[in-house]
Amino acid sequence: MNFRTIIEPFRIKSVEAVKFTHREDREARLREAGYNVFRLHAEDVLIDLLTDSGTGAMSSAQWGALMEGDESYAGSRSFYRFRDVVGALTGMKHIIPTHQGRAAERILFHTVLEPGMIVPNNNHFDTTRANIEVEGSEALDLVIPEGRVPAALHPFKGNIDLAALERLLDTAADRIPLVMVTVTNNSGGGQPVSLENLRGVRRLCDCYGKPFFLDACRFAENAYFIKLREDGQAHRAPRDIAREMFSLADGCTMSAKKDGLANIGGFLAMNDDGWAEQCRNLLILTEGFPTYGGLAGYDLEAIAQGLEEVVEESYLRYRIRSTAYLGEKLLAAGVPIIQPPGGHAIYVDARALLSHIPPLAYPGIALANALYVEAGVRAVEIGTVMFGMHPDGRETPATMDLVRLAIPRRVYTQSHIDYVAEAVIYVAQAKETLRGYRITRAPRVLRHFTAEFEGL
Ligand SMILES: Cc1ncc(COP(=O)(O)O)c(C=O)c1O
Repeated sequence: MNFRTIIEPFRIKSVEAVKFTHREDREARLREAGYNVFRLHAEDVLIDLLTDSGTGAMSSAQWGALMEGDESYAGSRSFYRFRDVVGALTGMKHIIPTHQGRAAERILFHTVLEPGMIVPNNNHFDTTRANIEVEGSEALDLVIPEGRVPAALHPFKGNIDLAALERLLDTAADRIPLVMVTVTNNSGGGQPVSLENLRGVRRLCDCYGKPFFLDACRFAENAYFIKLREDGQAHRAPRDIAREMFSLADGCTMSAKKDGLANIGGFLAMNDDGWAEQCRNLLILTEGFPTYGGLAGYDLEAIAQGLEEVVEESYLRYRIRSTAYLGEKLLAAGVPIIQPPGGHAIYVDARALLSHIPPLAYPGIALANALYVEAGVRAVEIGTVMFGMHPDGRETPATMDLVRLAIPRRVYTQSHIDYVAEAVIYVAQAKETLRGYRITRAPRVLRHFTAEFEGL
């Protein structure tokens, strides 16, 4: 008998208490935090859906692997295990560990970019965009039109618009050092990219002689969506699909804090010898020797083990289903979300829900703050605060104003998720009482992390 209930593919060996607080306490904490949930103390949060990055629970096998960590400065055994696992998965020649994904981005872009260049992507993640813009280059988003419409249904809403990419390559090839695709497409709602689309990018890159890089943070979730949704892929193991995805690319940046199932770490991988040498030299300057790249030997062990576990089908089935479960509950209650649900998060369409709050009064901040005050749930705005400020100091509404409920891997149970659904629905029903915000202080770059606000 094949039972229909999809259960957590693990049992719990160690637990961490969560702190229950009162609404008045949360109001006070949020005020002290300048109405920016990034500035809260995590212990004042009941259910933390700020990010799925580095917040996952490691397995007993990963904790065991930590003890195997070889902390030698150069040539550590843990590096070679890490290199072999990443090499077998990606098929790439040069594997460069970094302390997290953005370090891989910084090293890559500082190496390959000159002012005035353009990097196309389906949607750049915020650190990717910032690392491109800081080099004086342009980060161009070319996701398919459906990817810009929260309610539009499409099995691969993360696909890059191949026609638009071809037009760009046709007119500006000399300014494009590489083409990037983010799997899954975090800023576009955690939406997957099809193998067919990746093959299309490969063909265009071959035509124009351009390297193709994946932002591979959630490669395993993307591979599982391909298995579920793409014709002819249902019989394949997620690991094999993932290998094919990587085989289509010439390089990748990776944050192991997502599908590495680790709390810290990342890597840069590529086939080009010249770029790899330059990247390693830069790595030594800011991260460390090429066999540890800013990580402890035990981190490399945890990542190597995590990369083996993340492509297991039982894990991915549970992971993708539990995200969809939250999405279905919200949809059934009429809460507008990006559809279909993505891999690692549910994205509430705050602009649609709070249509009385204009984008420049930050509906996403209003919703995230209300969720914290009412229920102790921490989510994050992905919208005008994150993307609305341009390098020239102009502010415009972002394409969408979303609030992301990111689900840490293997951390929360179904009843936690039921509580989150109840909280979101409660706040959505009281939407008329929510007001916008204005920024009182903000840095020029990546302002969403530290900006302070006041209510309007
Ligand atoms: C798609 C994507 N790229 C890059 C990064 C940056 O990775 P890190 O946070 O490890 O620097 C993230 C992090 O959330 C991401 O989601």
